[in-house]
Amino acid sequence: MAFLADALSRVKPSATIAVSQKARELKAQGRDVIGLGAGEPDFDTPDNIKKAAIDAINRGETKYTPVSGIQPLREAISAKFKRENNLDYDWKQTIVGTGGKQILFNALMATLNPGDEVVIPSPYWVSYPEMVALCGGTPAFAETSIDNGFKLTPAALEKAITPKTKWLIMNSPSNPSGAAYTSDELKALADVLLAHPQVWILTDDMYEHLTYGDFKFATIAEIEPKLYDRTLTMNGVSKAYAMTGWRIGYAAGPIELIKAMDMIQGQQTSGACSIAQWAAVEALNGPQDFIGKNKAIFQGRRDLVVSMLNQATGIKCPVPEGAFYVYPSCQELIGKTAPTGKVIATDEDFVSELLEAEGVAVVHGSAFGLGPNFRISYATSETLLEQACERIQRFTASLK
Ligand SMILES: Cc1ncc(COP(=O)(O)O)c(C=O)c1O
Repeated sequence: MAFLADALSRVKPSATIAVSQKARELKAQGRDVIGLGAGEPDFDTPDNIKKAAIDAINRGETKYTPVSGIQPLREAISAKFKRENNLDYDWKQTIVGTGGKQILFNALMATLNPGDEVVIPSPYWVSYPEMVALCGGTPAFAETSIDNGFKLTPAALEKAITPKTKWLIMNSPSNPSGAAYTSDELKALADVLLAHPQVWILTDDMYEHLTYGDFKFATIAEIEPKLYDRTLTMNGVSKAYAMTGWRIGYAAGPIELIKAMDMIQGQQTSGACSIAQWAAVEALNGPQDFIGKNKAIFQGRRDLVVSMLNQATGIKCPVPEGAFYVYPSCQELIGKTAPTGKVIATDEDFVSELLEAEGVAVVHGSAFGLGPNFRISYATSETLLEQACERIQRFTASLK
């Protein structure tokens, strides 16, 4: 439509939202569908956090807040970075946004000029390349492989950097692969970055609290202090505290960048919801035992799903370190024929035939820039996960 902006032609709709929509439609038609597409914890927000929001309403905390967020929340964020990441950020170096999404978008909006490149390791969270394109930049993909656990290698990073590179986006643990980088792996990437002073690092640590077993989370500015001055450390309460609907994300970084993001946000949404900000203060400052309990539940689910998928014919599923996703390969099934008679030529065919035959909704890997794979979100009950994996086993066994 001629009326719409040219910028719209640079973006595509979210494949993950499309899968959830398709699953909902089939359900509405009476089909028995198990949706494993959603990227949010299935737990409710803890009661102490809900109570803090109710108290805030009763106190009349219902007015506009400063654009970058209320000071108690910014101080809580500063304290969180010190406590959990050994990072010194003054509260004035922090900013609160309406979800991590707004933080990412505004950081890119505040920095990208036409022709600027942003290195994005694939598979990637679907919104990164779209946000970069909307802000006028050019995504530069750096492929990972299943054999190195879907992690960016120093050589692949070096190859992706050009004089036009402005940012590297890191996301550990990753959506969609669940891969998380060890301190040593981050240090090796940091060594490459030290040789390219024009490159800043936007690290999306949204899944920080969801790592399993002995894995120890680390973030790049902590591992290489020489990168502190060109790193934006982003995080949020959505996944760790089951607060996706509250829409609070945050970041900390060099003050000039934070000020630029504040300026954009001031002409856009202004401060995030006042009530949600008070809830986030309680999330960050209050009891943290909720996180440990959830971790244990998620780890049990991860182990169940990985084990059952590896028993499915033609599926290869690595064990991810974190998040609540697995990213198995369906490479061996490409070229086989589904019960409908359709030949499976791509991972997109695989997921649509799986949905058709067995009513299991997952997202195809090509939507995340690396396939043939598919993403399963295991943020749902063990009973449903077990049923879903049994159905996947039956489906893969039925392929000829
Ligand atoms: C990697 C990653 N970053 C950021 C976000 C956005 O988080 P928020 O809900 O706080 O906007 C998500 C949500 O799916 C995500 O998976």
